[in-house]
Amino acid sequence: MGKGNKERAKERREKRRQEVSLLRTIPYSDHQRWWSSDTIAVVTGANRGIGFEIARQFSLHGLTVILTSRETKVGEEAAKVLQEGGLNVVFHQLDVVDSSSIKLFADWVKQTFGSVDILVNNAGVNFNAGSDNSVEFAEKVFDTNYYGTKNMIKALIPLMRPSASGARIVNVSSRLGRLNGRRNRIGNLSLRQQLEDDGSLSEELIDQTVATFLEQVNDGSWTSGGWPQVFTDYSLSKLAVNTYTRLMSRVLSGRPEGQKIYINCYCPGWVKTAMTGWAGHTSPEEGADTAVWLALLPEQFVSGKFFAERREINY
Ligand SMILES: NC(=O)c1ccc[n+]([C@@H]2O[C@H](COP(=O)([O-])OP(=O)(O)OC[C@H]3O[C@@H](n4cnc5c(N)ncnc54)[C@H](OP(=O)(O)O)[C@@H]3O)[C@@H](O)[C@H]2O)c1
Repeated sequence: MGKGNKERAKERREKRRQEVSLLRTIPYSDHQRWWSSDTIAVVTGANRGIGFEIARQFSLHGLTVILTSRETKVGEEAAKVLQEGGLNVVFHQLDVVDSSSIKLFADWVKQTFGSVDILVNNAGVNFNAGSDNSVEFAEKVFDTNYYGTKNMIKALIPLMRPSASGARIVNVSSRLGRLNGRRNRIGNLSLRQQLEDDGSLSEELIDQTVATFLEQVNDGSWTSGGWPQVFTDYSLSKLAVNTYTRLMSRVLSGRPEGQKIYINCYCPGWVKTAMTGWAGHTSPEEGADTAVWLALLPEQFVSGKFFAERREINY
């Protein structure tokens, strides 16, 4: 009897995992290293899980990391773990749903460092597990995953350091937010096409899509709204992050040489963290890998793309 789809997927996943773990053992050459200890990387939601690992890996590569967390105490403790390992990590409070926290953070960054080179928007929430699909906390999900990401990008773009290598933004997203995945996509073909077409994609369209969903959550009609069926609020929030990544890449592409900002998003896989109740196929260390790889890409300037396991995937 032939192998089932699940088994083949598992084999492919395992094969790629081994390839990536080999790739990770290849050190960057001096010629590839565009960064130094003066390179500043900001990571949101870095007190635990994938964010903590991204911060750790950046600091192992020799960058200066600003590890942020909405809770000061746990953030300081997380930073301390890395500092005690001799790594160059500083902590600052940052709650991505609180505009005054974002402003205080940006002002502090400007005063302390003058500029940043890398922003990883990792902070995220998901209130569903297993086969649950509640939208009880939908607003919080969009405020954190989509608006939090967007507001951080807007706040930090003016602080991004002009350089020949370009500044980099990486948004931690999810395959659940794919526009054209075979499963779990938006049922409304016309809306999907508008979001897919660069000619019609706009910030207003993304915001309006989110607002329409939230209105339907409020009046109870969302279940027949043709939205993704799995973790609906979370999936749509990541779809918004993905489409916003594509949009911003286009907006930023007009910047002159020497002031470029590259923006991409990626799916870390199904990772053993608090968010998944420590279920999943992947360790936080592996889940963080593509973010770090993307942010540090030497020479090969890509923008507006979606990645997983160090490879481009379809939106
Ligand atoms: N785990 C997976 O399988 C998986 C798959 C695809 C995508 N992702 C994405 O990966 C990212 C990291 O998730 P994770 O798996 O590492 O989960 P996690 O362990 O729950 O970490 C989430 C982090 O986000 C922080 N956060 C939440 N709301 C915040 C806010 N308003 N301001 C600042 N920080 C906030 C959390 O802080 P607190 O500790 O204070 O709550 C925590 O540090 C998320 O964007 C998630 O959607 C995860």
